[in-house]
Amino acid sequence: MILVTGGAGYIGSHTVRELRERGMDVVVYDNLSTGHIESIGDTPFVKGDLFDVELLRKTFREYGVDSVIHFAAYSLVGESMVNPAKYYHNNVAGTLALLDAMLAENVKYLVFSSSAATYGDCGDGLITENSPQNPTSVYGQTKLMMEQFMQDYDKAYGMKYVALRYFNAAGAHASGEIGEAHNPESHLIPLILQVSNGKREQINIFGDDYPTHDGTCIRDYIHITDLADAHIKALEYLKNGGKSTYYNLGNGNGFSVKEVIDTVEKVVGSPVKKQVVERRPGDPASLVASSEKIQKELGWKPKYDTLDSIVASAWKWHSTHLDGFNK
Ligand code: UFG
Repeated sequence: MILVTGGAGYIGSHTVRELRERGMDVVVYDNLSTGHIESIGDTPFVKGDLFDVELLRKTFREYGVDSVIHFAAYSLVGESMVNPAKYYHNNVAGTLALLDAMLAENVKYLVFSSSAATYGDCGDGLITENSPQNPTSVYGQTKLMMEQFMQDYDKAYGMKYVALRYFNAAGAHASGEIGEAHNPESHLIPLILQVSNGKREQINIFGDDYPTHDGTCIRDYIHITDLADAHIKALEYLKNGGKSTYYNLGNGNGFSVKEVIDTVEKVVGSPVKKQVVERRPGDPASLVASSEKIQKELGWKPKYDTLDSIVASAWKWHSTHLDGFNK
């Protein structure tokens, strides 16, 4: 039985869906501070906080949990800079509470959502797992600290983990039934699609004076179902006796903000009103992953390997759910 913290969030709910489609037993643990209960259907659910060690322990015992996939975290880079206390408290102290509960109940396997934000500014080449980790945001710092805890817990207590460092998660489940619904929305692809579906007047391009081919920031967009698949492969690897490790997850192709807007216009078939505004503080010019390590070691391969296919899946959700999960 797998316990998924933050299983009602964007990445969590897609992973839960994938786990269940493959017949695996799952219980979702989420405090619903940002997640949507509608996104998990009839999956067994416990409403709880990471800090509630007693409830976590009880849940582990009741459901016979042997492994955890840990998504529950705040994840807005900008917010983490103005409210670091919120991020250190929830992400760092919350993860320690989870690890305590796991140790107490002898739960030994952990797949953990880390981030490209642990690298910071690495120039314009492909980022490998050996690139230096110097986060430029508090959010990235919290994820790096969590990775460090896990290393130490493995050494001392034999807790086995895989940390997955995602680049830019995007897209929606192929059914169009679940998708990205943040409030307020801050991510590029959903924001552009809100212009396409008439919910937003225009997209602001945050700076066109970066040292990139068209001056706008370059990111590596990775489909949410491909991310979900990587979590499942990582868990299987651990259960088969694999040793603790970490992997980048991206497509290995960078797209500028302008290229993403062009792709949306092409996929949706209508123009998007846009305007260049000031840079957003803290944005590195380029973040593109080398995912060779996970491809070689776990046989993971992204199925959505074009930006068009990622945007088309997101559009299927956004064109039919103008208010996200609200009816
Ligand atoms: N952007 C705009 N206009 C907008 C929104 C975004 O131009 O209205 C730009 C950003 O400046 C950035 C790019 O689009 O260059 C992507 O921005 P997102 O906010 O969609 O994503 P980020 O790259 O900032 O961050 C995402 C996740 C983080 C994670 C990071 C790792 O939100 O949690 O990827 O790369 F840490």
